[in-house]
Amino acid sequence: MTHPVLRVLAGHEVWPPPMWLMRQAGRYLPEYRKIRAEAGDFIALCTAPKLAAEVTLQPIRRYGFDAAILFSDILILPWALGYGLQFKEGEGPVLPRLEDEAGLATLDPGRVAGAVEPILETVRRCREQLGPETVLIGFAGGPFTVACYMVEGGGSKEHARVRTMAQAQPELMDRLIGILTESTIEYLSAQADAGAQVLKIFDSWAGVLSPRLFERYVTAPTTRIVQALKQRHPEIPIIGFPRLSGLGAGRYAQAAGLQGVAFDTGADLTVALGLVPAGIATQGNLDPMALVAGGAALEAETRVILTAVRGKPHIFNLGHGIVPQTPPEHVAELVRHVRQG
Ligand code: CP3
Repeated sequence: MTHPVLRVLAGHEVWPPPMWLMRQAGRYLPEYRKIRAEAGDFIALCTAPKLAAEVTLQPIRRYGFDAAILFSDILILPWALGYGLQFKEGEGPVLPRLEDEAGLATLDPGRVAGAVEPILETVRRCREQLGPETVLIGFAGGPFTVACYMVEGGGSKEHARVRTMAQAQPELMDRLIGILTESTIEYLSAQADAGAQVLKIFDSWAGVLSPRLFERYVTAPTTRIVQALKQRHPEIPIIGFPRLSGLGAGRYAQAAGLQGVAFDTGADLTVALGLVPAGIATQGNLDPMALVAGGAALEAETRVILTAVRGKPHIFNLGHGIVPQTPPEHVAELVRHVRQG
């Protein structure tokens, strides 16, 4: 019997829809905070296979989600390229600011395979420890979203630097995106070899680009990644998350050859699903704050999504990651609502 998540990604409706949650392993869980404190630093946790595998499995034990997502981060790729990365308490990621050719010259694709070995070991351990009822999702950032953090030097509200670079220095931007695209192919392919059964590309800042640049820096690199992966792993389904891309998400999924497209919180699924070609699965898109609220708001928001996706191939998820203040018992409430269909 094919797993429900794989059936949905093959274009079939499964009811009730299978579910997992973005950032399902994380700070809202006391058992995560304990291991995080033991590991000390976030990168140390991502690169300690035993601990990272344990953290990946924690939400599966608690809630029985249909999918486990590898515990790592999209910024592990620039780190593996030899680019400085730190996670500062209360501040998030801090990186050097990439602004010119000299910045590009510091990137070393030759290091990636060796540097990501601990992450691949986590994938192998997770697959060994998970039962057949749970699929394992591997992931990477979309090249544009990874570039956002490198060019801005960390998180940003406006993304003015990276958007200006894309408009004013397209040759520089092309080269950066090119390096990230090729390294992402190697990294995701290695995750598939290690046991990931589904791959997801998180392009969290895709929606800050104009439609012209969205095509060049989101759709085109994603298409290249999907084509290269399909040559090596013809069977593996790939989900894209072009966050904030509004009306463009369905076209992006079709052009790139994806099997699934994830929607963010603001997407009205009754409209958005109409723009996704038949046979492509969708995922999403509960407001993470409904999960903080619980009770009637959680039930009402969940119902809107279940009603919109009935009869379509859909994986239930949030529209963005779980936030740390989420009460764990609200997640259990959500699982009950979704499992009742
Ligand atoms: O979903 C999962 O449970 C798997 C693990 C995972 C993490 N990050 C763990 C994490 C995944 C898939 C990601 C993806 C990621 N990382 C994205 C794309 C999805 C999205 O949220 O838009 C982005 C943009 C990042 C970059 C990143 N990592 C930021 C901006 C931050 C700081 C903000 C924050 O939430 O702390 C991180 C840190 C991070 N990544 C944490 C976790 C559990 C918190 C680290 C901690 O424990 O201190």
